[in-house]
Amino acid sequence: MNILALIGSPRKNGNTVAVVDALLSGAKDAGHETDSIMVYDKNILPCIDCRRCQRGPFACGFHDDMGMLYEKISGADVLVIGTPLYWYGASAPMKTCIDRFRPYVSSRELEGKGAIVIVPSEEGPSACDPLMHMFRLSFQYLGVQLLDSLLIKAYDRDDARQSPGILERAYALGAEL
Ligand SMILES: Cc1cc2nc3c(=O)[nH]c(=O)nc-3n(C[C@H](O)[C@H](O)[C@H](O)COP(=O)(O)O)c2cc1C
Repeated sequence: MNILALIGSPRKNGNTVAVVDALLSGAKDAGHETDSIMVYDKNILPCIDCRRCQRGPFACGFHDDMGMLYEKISGADVLVIGTPLYWYGASAPMKTCIDRFRPYVSSRELEGKGAIVIVPSEEGPSACDPLMHMFRLSFQYLGVQLLDSLLIKAYDRDDARQSPGILERAYALGAEL
């Protein structure tokens, strides 16, 4: 399978990256193809609700880095969405990226794909309820199956690496795909 991770943290060596990398290395060791994108490094314009993508051929009118992402998302069987919890939601670049999933409402191209959500936060899993509610509703709307989630209590850059068992859990989840 092709596993594509979208990482919505600005920290190159932070908690989201550590956990996503562990999951991808488990998936790779199990024979899957893996790829990851740092969303903060990409030029992704905010959706302006022009509704062009709601008419065939369901293409977004913008020509930015999302074009490359649409191609990678098309080729993926499983999307790993990793974002730090920012004010009980996704980081702004990750939210902007998700808003640009709008073509998939009409194209139905995400139907049948799987998703795994990874969220580190200072407060821990229960603080992620509103964000997970958003993901559940949005995936349901798009026909994506939420396979699993890893909601991790982590604040400082190395917390996830230093918390016993977290990277092992992520690796195992990737290896089981
Ligand atoms: C702008 C901002 C907003 C945040 N909001 C929350 C929050 O609402 N709840 C929480 O538990 N942690 C919050 N945090 C803490 C981060 O989720 C936490 O430090 C996380 O581990 C960062 O992940 P990273 O290392 O992958 O960047 C916030 C951090 C920032 C910078």
